[in-house]
Amino acid sequence: MAFTKHHALAASLLVSQIAGQSGFATSDRSDDAFSFVQPAEWPILGPYGNSPEVLPSPNTTGHGGWEDAFQRAQAFVDQLTVEEKALMVTGAEGPCVGNIQPIERLGFNGLCLQDGPLSIRYADYASVFSAGVSAACTWDRDILHERGMAMGKEFKGKGAHVALAPVCGALGRSGYAGRNWEGFSPDQYLTGIATAQTIMGFQDAGVQATAKHYIGNEQETQRNPTFAKNGSLTAKDQEAISSNIDDRTMHEAYLWPFANAVKANVASVMCSYQRLNGSYACQNTKAQNGLLKGELGFQGYIMSDWGAVHSGVASMEGGLDMNMPGGLGSYGFTFKDAGSYFGGNVSAAIRNGSIPESRVDDMIHRIMTPYYLFGQDKENYPLVDPSSVPLNTNFGPRSQWDRQDWSAMVGGESSRDVRSNHSALIRKHANAATVLLKNANNALPLKAPRSIAIFGNDAGNPTEGFYNQDNYEFGNLVVGGGSGTGRLTYLDTPLDALKRKAYEDGALLQQWLNNTLIAESDVTDLWIAPEPEVCIVMLKTWAEEADDRESLGFDWNGEAVVNSVAKACGNTVVVTHSAGINLYPFADHPNVTAIIAAHYPGTESGQSMIDTLYGINNPSGKLPYTVAYDGDDYNAPPVTSVGNNTGQYAWQVYFEEGLEIDYRHFDAKNIDVRYEFGFGLSYSTFELSDLSIEPVQTDITSEPEDLPIAPGGNPALWETLYNVSATVTNTGDRDGAQVAQLYVAFPDSAPEGTPVQQLRGFEKPYLCAGESKQVSFEIMRRDLSYWDVVSQQWLIPEGEFKFSVGFSSRDFRVDGAATVVDA
Ligand code: NOJ
Repeated sequence: MAFTKHHALAASLLVSQIAGQSGFATSDRSDDAFSFVQPAEWPILGPYGNSPEVLPSPNTTGHGGWEDAFQRAQAFVDQLTVEEKALMVTGAEGPCVGNIQPIERLGFNGLCLQDGPLSIRYADYASVFSAGVSAACTWDRDILHERGMAMGKEFKGKGAHVALAPVCGALGRSGYAGRNWEGFSPDQYLTGIATAQTIMGFQDAGVQATAKHYIGNEQETQRNPTFAKNGSLTAKDQEAISSNIDDRTMHEAYLWPFANAVKANVASVMCSYQRLNGSYACQNTKAQNGLLKGELGFQGYIMSDWGAVHSGVASMEGGLDMNMPGGLGSYGFTFKDAGSYFGGNVSAAIRNGSIPESRVDDMIHRIMTPYYLFGQDKENYPLVDPSSVPLNTNFGPRSQWDRQDWSAMVGGESSRDVRSNHSALIRKHANAATVLLKNANNALPLKAPRSIAIFGNDAGNPTEGFYNQDNYEFGNLVVGGGSGTGRLTYLDTPLDALKRKAYEDGALLQQWLNNTLIAESDVTDLWIAPEPEVCIVMLKTWAEEADDRESLGFDWNGEAVVNSVAKACGNTVVVTHSAGINLYPFADHPNVTAIIAAHYPGTESGQSMIDTLYGINNPSGKLPYTVAYDGDDYNAPPVTSVGNNTGQYAWQVYFEEGLEIDYRHFDAKNIDVRYEFGFGLSYSTFELSDLSIEPVQTDITSEPEDLPIAPGGNPALWETLYNVSATVTNTGDRDGAQVAQLYVAFPDSAPEGTPVQQLRGFEKPYLCAGESKQVSFEIMRRDLSYWDVVSQQWLIPEGEFKFSVGFSSRDFRVDGAATVVDA
């Protein structure tokens, strides 16, 4: 586990922390804006920052389609004692990574919460799917849904009620952030759609999805406080870092995909570890009560990240509905053992009037409504697979937590195989995610080479097992580390797959897996035969939870490995397995003929590489981020200020670049890039024609109609205002898919800081050679609006919008314009 850094927490805890720290975000502002004033000198924000207070926490009504389930939740809550109410909102040590205890008296079997975004982690005989970053590379709604649903079936088969997935925060503000790969893309539009599709997939399979981490968890550095060495988990030497985000950036960037999640009826949202505009995210009233439950009309429950709770009553009033895993500190303690801000304090707080019972009832209504909605109360809902239990390392030795009777929750056949035909899906998803970055002289697809060499420590089998939580030297890298990892039941490595292919073709295959040897050798001395027809170099880049990346380079001296091979081999093909952004300094080397970015593809890594190298797959993946020429070209470092580095509130990150992250930054500053956002080659060629931009509504106003809030926010924001369409033609001689991407440039009347252009639509048709298809993009009101901090409203600016459709953010083939609102 990567969590050892946070394990060193002492056990002497305060049990009766009823009110916790006040934790209310205070403000002297009279309006409702979510903004800190950004003085020139960037002062260190104090404990409560400038985030305005929004109270009380709105009650769920189940509206938007959950009404019947809500009624059942109400009937359930009506039967609970005050002590049972406390249990329902407080995690307990148990068989899953998060547990709500059964109440057998009421036929409630408890809730099993399991990680994570690419696999059910505490399970055997489960699949490891592609990571979020790979899924984003597909730009394919159907695949995103299919992947979510296949995972959902596996979670359900293993008895999990709640999947701690998907990730849409980190959004990817900084390329260095350690968890970007768990999520999708720094583009909020792409991430919004990927998030919604994944949620619908999970929930169509009957499992509750969790959109995480809410919000501003854009860095791992100091994500948790540094606790005082005196053994108390309530005394801190330094608070967690504060992500300081202005109101407009919050709405248009970081909140955007969460709006998609709520619109997709996500059951749960996980609040994040760090502080937000000065107050801890899990007790930030503006973020939770104001934005999520108020503005977005979220009807589900907010659960805390593990150990992200820093107060009792303040968090409950601040909108937190479930404390996970239950105890104080990051890991390993329950309220039974060591005290909790929730637990027994909830019942005490109800009794002494510190918290209205109605608030706690609302918390449980929110928790139980999705449970009934997805039929998780039914007798045929699978129990937790007994084989998962000993795999749960979250709570330390089982003897510590085995006092509770979990028999109502655990049972059925042990080691159930839930993988079904998913290896075929994983291969399909990996193929659709493969991004071809360079293909000089049509080096690919390979034309049945008779002599092949493969280089690099990413090619072969991991030598340290299949559940890695550290950057291991030898072995193919297909998932990162931390809670978002998966437990491989097998791995088809590039070397395995290439061996099969070479055997089939009668080819000569040579292999070198030691990067140091390759980097330091004259590669011609290594060859046992004349220069191979193709040299495949496998590179990797590790990333994990709780650590930000230190560089955008390849691990294990990867660049030197490429240079050494390319010096000798005229046909060097580089294949990368990576957490995300890398620099490709060797991309212009004339002997580097092709580059493939496969990111983290899951178990079918090897076969999917062969599929693309040999043309069984025509690559159609597109970069969900920008590859710069130089690391310094990126803005947005994970941390912008540590003050004097010792002060309690020293850790700060000011999102001062506003909306200008990733391509929005490169466009605004007019910086050349090596591979732009949305870029990816095909073995075929494509054209676009016949752009049409048609309004769907007449008399479009700048302000949206003020409709009653529904899940996702004001429904008027989701209304289609324009239909844009274009024709895509496969002009080459190979069948394949292509992503048509629509970018919108706002008129000049939009406020300063509006990005030069923004992705607002994509479609991925599959086209036989010579075939044409029309693609259409539904442009919603939100797509054409900016968040006006003064009127606290989404407004469409006056003037002409430009619509450009192309095959990347810098490769437009057709464009047109339209004036949306009359002056
Ligand atoms: C902490 C991680 O931030 C979160 O994503 C995960 O779900 C929990 N731990 C449980 O493992």
